Amino acid sequence: MHRAGIIVWGALTELRKMVRPGVSTLELDAFAEEYAHRHHARPAFKGYHGYPKSLCTSINQEVVHGIPSGKRVVKEGDILSMDFGVELEGYYGDAALTVPVGKVDPAREKLLRVTREALERGIDQVRPGNRLTDISAAVQQWAEKNGLSVVREFVGHGIGTKMHEDLQVPNYGAPGQGPKLQTGMVLAIEPMVNTGGPAVKVLEDKWTAVTADGSDSAHFEHTVAVTENGPWILTRPRETSGPVW
Ligand code: CO
Repeated sequence: MHRAGIIVWGALTELRKMVRPGVSTLELDAFAEEYAHRHHARPAFKGYHGYPKSLCTSINQEVVHGIPSGKRVVKEGDILSMDFGVELEGYYGDAALTVPVGKVDPAREKLLRVTREALERGIDQVRPGNRLTDISAAVQQWAEKNGLSVVREFVGHGIGTKMHEDLQVPNYGAPGQGPKLQTGMVLAIEPMVNTGGPAVKVLEDKWTAVTADGSDSAHFEHTVAVTENGPWILTRPRETSGPVW
């Protein structure tokens, strides 16, 4: 799973450098797909429940599952979430980040920082003996303390030989509930945080989730293993320290 995760991380690390005013989300998707193939992996999203592309690209008020298109070109001041997953030799990796396009306003900068920090605080709860919703509560508390709201309709998930496995990982709820975390479990933790209310709706394309109130939304994700020494982030190189994205 770490080898799958490194391919996901490598693709997203290249993709974030490609993000500039004028780039279309279709160009980013093409790069992601090619990157997976070049590394002998399969883009995991393509064909998943009929999803048509390899990458999810969600701009501004779009929360998750935006479909790349040649008609969607990002501009200065936008925020762009990119979510990518691959299967390598039967094992999955899944990660996402949200990046600014050029210079963005302070409210958007704060949204990106707080959502990334919410993911970090969730990951900090990953250790044997903690309970599942210790992750959820840490994410929600950080977002709400900073005046933001967390999406309820989409959650993180177990991941392994399938992209979505047992255990849903909500980004809200009281701590101390649910199963105890055990060494060897692997979870995709993925807070989706809005500047307005938490409600979302899905567009006519049946995929793109947007905030109900049109406010901005950000999304960060890592695939994380529970080890006896605490969290092991599988979707980045092992020796990395500092911010998770
Ligand atoms: Co995921």
